[in-house]
Amino acid sequence: MEKIVVVGGGQAGLSLVAKLRSSGYQDEITMVCEEPELPYQRPPLSKKYLTGELEKDRLYLRPKSFYAENNIDLMLGCRCEEIDPYTSKIKVNGKKVSYNHLVLTTGSHPVKLPPNLGGDLGGLYYIRDLADITSLKPEIVVGRNALVVGGGFIGLETASALISKGLHVTIVEAADRIMQRVVGPETSSYFRNLHRSNGARLLEGVGLKRLIGNRRVSKALLSNDDELDVDIVIVGIGVRPADALAKNAGLDVANGIRVNQKGQTSQPNIWASGDCTSFPWGDSYIRLESVQNAIDQSETVAANIMGADENYEFVPWFWTDQYDTKLQISGLGAGYTNIITRAGIKENSVSYWYMRGDDLIAVDAINDPRSYMVGKRLLEQGIGVEPETLANPQADLKSLLRQ
Ligand code: NAI
Repeated sequence: MEKIVVVGGGQAGLSLVAKLRSSGYQDEITMVCEEPELPYQRPPLSKKYLTGELEKDRLYLRPKSFYAENNIDLMLGCRCEEIDPYTSKIKVNGKKVSYNHLVLTTGSHPVKLPPNLGGDLGGLYYIRDLADITSLKPEIVVGRNALVVGGGFIGLETASALISKGLHVTIVEAADRIMQRVVGPETSSYFRNLHRSNGARLLEGVGLKRLIGNRRVSKALLSNDDELDVDIVIVGIGVRPADALAKNAGLDVANGIRVNQKGQTSQPNIWASGDCTSFPWGDSYIRLESVQNAIDQSETVAANIMGADENYEFVPWFWTDQYDTKLQISGLGAGYTNIITRAGIKENSVSYWYMRGDDLIAVDAINDPRSYMVGKRLLEQGIGVEPETLANPQADLKSLLRQ
């Protein structure tokens, strides 16, 4: 009997074991999960779970019964400390566990604010794990002052949740515009206006000099020399891949665990998927922090462990909900040469289409699921489209799909 051991109980780990069982894998499966919770979805943590609109039970990706019914040995609250690739064993809470195939779905860790900037003060929160939200929730009190450091997805979604709960929110983004890691200037502008019109104070090109307080934060000093009174601070300044285990085991690691197109690391019976991986993309390697990547890459790995020999090929997608606005992104806009604006049918809907030369490479659709859906399919099918057609809101994009 073979044994697959999965280290990491997030979306990637769960997708992997679910796919193995739904594909008929009958041998042993063990999941080692550091958190004490059943695998759960993270996206609602900065959205409806934070505002209290979603119950905790709805976060779980599968009910407890799923693991017993599918004969998955779920080790909750257990940390894998070490991998020995030569004997094919890992160490978990001091005990050795052997594997035939090991899959690392260890995810990523939030970048921490260093202690010399006040990172060790009370009243400071990250938004990554259920435990983070459990400790933050009692602090969400009408009229309090919240500082959000970082205008990425985490910072902006959390700002929108806090404003909906009646807090006064200041957002500081060190780069010259919010969400610059993922979107172009047009989409940043849309969301800048959205936050300001909902009452957030949004400062771009402004970083945090340091937090001030006696044990607990009470003030923040910004790079523009503003001093703010703050009750709580949310830090969303990016993540780093959780690749230390792999690195210590001698696997190839460079901005994440290096895998090939099959999801295999430099050690053939060790695989990896999700946020923790760096995988081939065109001529280089990329790392993607998204639910789509966690699911699709894990499903490819599951198939390959079972002998399929598939490459991980996909069009990335992301979404974010802020206030009553939904942004859906398909493709990767990095390296674009031109962005085409297409007015939406509804007043507050618009889409931005990223071109590299004559090629469509990504679309940001704001309150416009139709443009998102068409854009995603154009990208998946590699269908060419004229800029004039994209810019003309009367042109029926769907007809392009029928060619
Ligand atoms: P991020 O990398 O998207 O954004 C971090 C932002 O913080 C950047 O804009 C950066 O310029 C800024 N920053 C860095 N240092 C700073 C400083 N000292 N002062 C002020 N600003 C500073 O990372 P984020 O928002 O923390 O999200 C973490 C991860 O979670 C990402 O992988 C993100 O994609 C993922 N996520 C995805 C969501 C979605 O797809 N809707 C929702 C929430 C999180």
